Amino acid sequence: MSRITSLEQYHAEYRKSIEQPEIFWAEQAAEFTWRKKWNKVLEWNFTGPDVKWFIGGKLNITENCLDRHLAERGDQTAMIWEPNSPDEAGRKISYKELHAEVCRFANVLKKHGAKKGDRVCIYMPMIPELAVAVLACARIGAIHSVVFGGFSFSSLADRVHDADCRIVVTADGGFRGAKDIPLKSVVDEALKTCPSVTKVLVAKRTGVAVNMVEGRDLWWSEEIKTVSADCPAEEMDSEDMLFILYTSGSTGKPKGVVHTCGGYMVYVKYTFENVFQYNPGDVFWCTADVGWVTGHSYLVYGPLLAGATTVMFEGIPTFPDAGRFWHVIDKHKVNIFYTAPTAIRSLEAMGLDFVKPYKLDSLRVLGTVGEPINAEAWEWYHKNIGKEKCPIVDTWWQTETGGILISPLAGITKTKPGFATWPLPGVQPVLVDEAGNELQGNGVEGRLCIRFPWPGIIRTTYGNHERCRATYFETYKNLYFTGDGCRRDEDGYYRITGRVDDVIKVSGHLLGTAEIENAINEHPDIVESAVVAFPHDIKGWGIYAFCIDENGRKDVESLKKEIIDTVNKYMGPIAKPDKIQIVTGLPKTRSGKIMRRILRKIAEGETSSLGDISTLLDPAVVEEIVKGAVM
Ligand code: WT7
Repeated sequence: MSRITSLEQYHAEYRKSIEQPEIFWAEQAAEFTWRKKWNKVLEWNFTGPDVKWFIGGKLNITENCLDRHLAERGDQTAMIWEPNSPDEAGRKISYKELHAEVCRFANVLKKHGAKKGDRVCIYMPMIPELAVAVLACARIGAIHSVVFGGFSFSSLADRVHDADCRIVVTADGGFRGAKDIPLKSVVDEALKTCPSVTKVLVAKRTGVAVNMVEGRDLWWSEEIKTVSADCPAEEMDSEDMLFILYTSGSTGKPKGVVHTCGGYMVYVKYTFENVFQYNPGDVFWCTADVGWVTGHSYLVYGPLLAGATTVMFEGIPTFPDAGRFWHVIDKHKVNIFYTAPTAIRSLEAMGLDFVKPYKLDSLRVLGTVGEPINAEAWEWYHKNIGKEKCPIVDTWWQTETGGILISPLAGITKTKPGFATWPLPGVQPVLVDEAGNELQGNGVEGRLCIRFPWPGIIRTTYGNHERCRATYFETYKNLYFTGDGCRRDEDGYYRITGRVDDVIKVSGHLLGTAEIENAINEHPDIVESAVVAFPHDIKGWGIYAFCIDENGRKDVESLKKEIIDTVNKYMGPIAKPDKIQIVTGLPKTRSGKIMRRILRKIAEGETSSLGDISTLLDPAVVEEIVKGAVM
């Protein structure tokens, strides 16, 4: 694998990756352990879409994450686990130990009927067993579908259902800051509507009392005693599914983004090593939960493929206080630190007293991901955490892209606050206007699309290929459409400006407005609602919900509280509206479409320039909403 070490080399590699993509990616793929080499590097079209990488290749990603390292670095720490409470002892797990744990749990899955191609849902706190469960699935060719532990029973049930999972892996509970999350009881609730699930494997974490259903529920700790630590890896085709990960869209329920074994493996290792300029021996800490793609690609797979030491942190940045991240960095001598702008902003707001006690001198590279980073937060991070000597990589990518697409290479690409800078080798960005005309040259702004496949690209949406086509490949012919707005400045640097569709980035989490509206509408009194985003200092965007109360309840505060509880119940706390306004009507066109443009302006407090409202069915409703706006 070519590790880029200079700007000249970046340009040369980039050129090669465009002119001879197959040769370029074959070179990157050559260093992995393949059971059988591919016959052809790439076949693709964006109309199907139908994209295949390393065709005919046979491999198992866990042999590349684990077995491959045993001879050379079997005793090196693969994973450092830092628990929620700093007073609890953490764990250091060597490659040898991780290999054995994965093999054992893989045998447990097999014992309970999991086979190649079966889907396994993983709903766990950030404990080592989560990574073990993910890798154990990959070991036997079962397709993992990790659901973030903050989602509610109903979101979990939807995902279990959609992927038709037979096995769920969970824990009794999880610790997050001062809170205990009762994961197993959420699973119990979800499974009431998922009769297809026959086994639930439960790791013990909090010790909370749980209800174990006879014949269905089994303790992890008991089960691993019954199997051997020897589990040969299943031979997988490059294009066999590796995992499903659900992500929100502008309409309908979340869709299961599918990634496959070969291309994903090659892409995440390549991007991990090059973007972060990983050096052997580095301790790498990605703060994302494994429930999101960032955790899949840059907490589990990327670092392990590279033979790195990866840190998994169970807790939250503000527990027991806002110095926790910096404490953990010093404690484990973290060299590369990767987090979200929202975390940086919230810690910045707590003041420097939480930073001062720590040396932070092990840090070499900083990264951000998930949303645009504002210049102020960038500068704060650069100055106070990186001590002005650590390059910041602002990495742009998506669940659908598998790995980072646009980003500086640490210490190589000159950075500019707020800019993801240049595309990585193999990535061909295109900006188009709304009509799909390509915007040539620099100093332009439009919608971000990608012209050519990279190995980590989404293959399908689980169980519904048409949805994949319609969402990403139909809007602009022969292009992958990202849903993001983007500017290319005079230097050819890319700056992501935010979503152009009806999804909201709240604290870096992607939420569909339709999904939140559906949850709100579960409240018996709410007949209709409309959700829009408004700028929020810490979270990036906040959620503003306009709700029509059928009964015109006088006690508005109690109704608002119930709406929040309803969203918690049906989606989870991350989707909780920040502002709720009870209204008697919504601004609709004569054809019945809600004019979100107007609601967005009102939510932003911009009521003087609402634009043309003459096409509304009932313009008077706007006046009422403006008057009652929550500021
Ligand atoms: C959306 C994808 C990428 C893994 C985590 C999020 C936004 C992501 C950046 C960035 C500006 C960013 C985009 C993108 N986004 N990274 N560096 N600068 N915006 O994955 O949940 O699938 O969200 O996150 O809007 O489309 P995701």
